Amino acid sequence: MPITILIGAQWGDEGKGRVVDWLAGSADIVARYAGGDNAGHTVALNGKVYKLHLVPSGILHSRVVSIMGNGMVINPVNLAREMQSLRAIGVDITPERLVISSRAHIITPAHIALDSAKEAALGDDKIGTTLRGIGPAYLDKTGRAGIRTGDMLLDVEEFTERLVSAIESTNQVLSQQGRETLDPQAAAQSYLDAAAALRPYIKDTSVYLHQALRAGKSVVCEGAQGTLLDIDHGSYPFVTSSSPTAGGALTGLGVGPLFVEKVLGVAKAFSTRVGGGPMPTELEGEIAQRLRGSGANFWDEFGTTTGRPRRCGWLDVVMLRYAVSVNGFSEMMLTKLDILSGLDELKLAVAYEIDGQQYEYPPVTNELLQRAKPVYETLPGWRDDISGCREFAQLPLAARRYVDRVAALCDVPINSVSVGPERDQLVEKSAS
Ligand code: GDP
Ligand code: IMO
Ligand code: MG
Repeated sequence: MPITILIGAQWGDEGKGRVVDWLAGSADIVARYAGGDNAGHTVALNGKVYKLHLVPSGILHSRVVSIMGNGMVINPVNLAREMQSLRAIGVDITPERLVISSRAHIITPAHIALDSAKEAALGDDKIGTTLRGIGPAYLDKTGRAGIRTGDMLLDVEEFTERLVSAIESTNQVLSQQGRETLDPQAAAQSYLDAAAALRPYIKDTSVYLHQALRAGKSVVCEGAQGTLLDIDHGSYPFVTSSSPTAGGALTGLGVGPLFVEKVLGVAKAFSTRVGGGPMPTELEGEIAQRLRGSGANFWDEFGTTTGRPRRCGWLDVVMLRYAVSVNGFSEMMLTKLDILSGLDELKLAVAYEIDGQQYEYPPVTNELLQRAKPVYETLPGWRDDISGCREFAQLPLAARRYVDRVAALCDVPINSVSVGPERDQLVEKSAS
């Protein structure tokens, strides 16, 4: 049963890209199943930093096939551009190495304009989206009005007609709101160019995956976003519009559950969130700044896609416990443990107190969540730089205790941690 589903256990940016890159070293296929270019997945290799938005994070391994699944929403112009810029730095991208589902949905300029218009209309209550057109694209998908990647295989006139008509009807909405309208012909031309570049890559990826799995190939399913941004399970409406959780991997790729061997939750050793919505352990001041970094390093907490500073706080075990229950993690991994080095003490939110009542799982409403006061357990910190550690036994005792305590509180094993952004900056428990 060779599927490993990898999922962000928090609000995104947990370090999924680097973990996928690591797992891809022993996999045949890496398949992304949700979201679009709202994602920003970073892989650091031999001093070079790769920021991937649509192309799966297995692409740096020459023998791995990368798949973009039907659950994704794809901006074809941005994808063609990303493929081109990867090629320019020596990454081999051919239809044998990258396969795009014919059932994914296309993000049009209309979706992007509507995303901005909706956020502007919400004012102070805005979601804080990445403005990539994600929500409007999924809205058209579920409203049965979307254009799919497979439609790029249609004859040019029909594809153009559908695109132009989507833009023209959005223009009516935009002009009613006094917003700038779009030029349908210019948009159509750029989409036709992108369609021509992408056409050889488009296939039925569900059938492709099924045949590969039957032939014994191993697949890593690359989650984007995170559990707490899930349309069903996140802090609605401050969520994305897809299902980045375990169930989403199956529908987003069209594979059956019996192939799944492992569900790996990736969590950062502290909490971050970008965009609006409740975040009970959010900190301000010195410790938040320490966790965020100044922006001088590429791994500091500034959005990979939007550059926005991320909100930072202590690790929220209440939310992690919830992520365990939503996804059924068989294992978890903690990233960025090195960032905690040098802090005198570390705190874990083990419960919330709301109106005198204790909660071990997050309440459903944002009104309650906003009032949640974390109940902290304090653990000793460590001083040593751990970025050179490669075995669990080399980590300071306090670091090992921190990891083991999180695992015990979540009741899920943590067998690996990362101690720096480079591919080899990993510590596996079994190696000790
Ligand atoms: P993703 O969206 O989950 O793939 O995560 P991002 O790439 O958006 O953000 C994670 C950031 O943390 C990236 O800059 C990574 O290079 C960096 N990173 C990942 N793991 C580690 C780690 O163990 N230590 C440090 N210092 N940085 C890390
Ligand atoms: P990766 O894959 C962090 C957040 C946005 C916003 C909300 C809705 O890099 O972890 P959207 O544009 O999807 O409609 O925005 O979701 N968001 C992310 N936050 N990492 C991401 O992706 C995100 N993708 C979306 O900031 O709060
Ligand atoms: Mg990211």
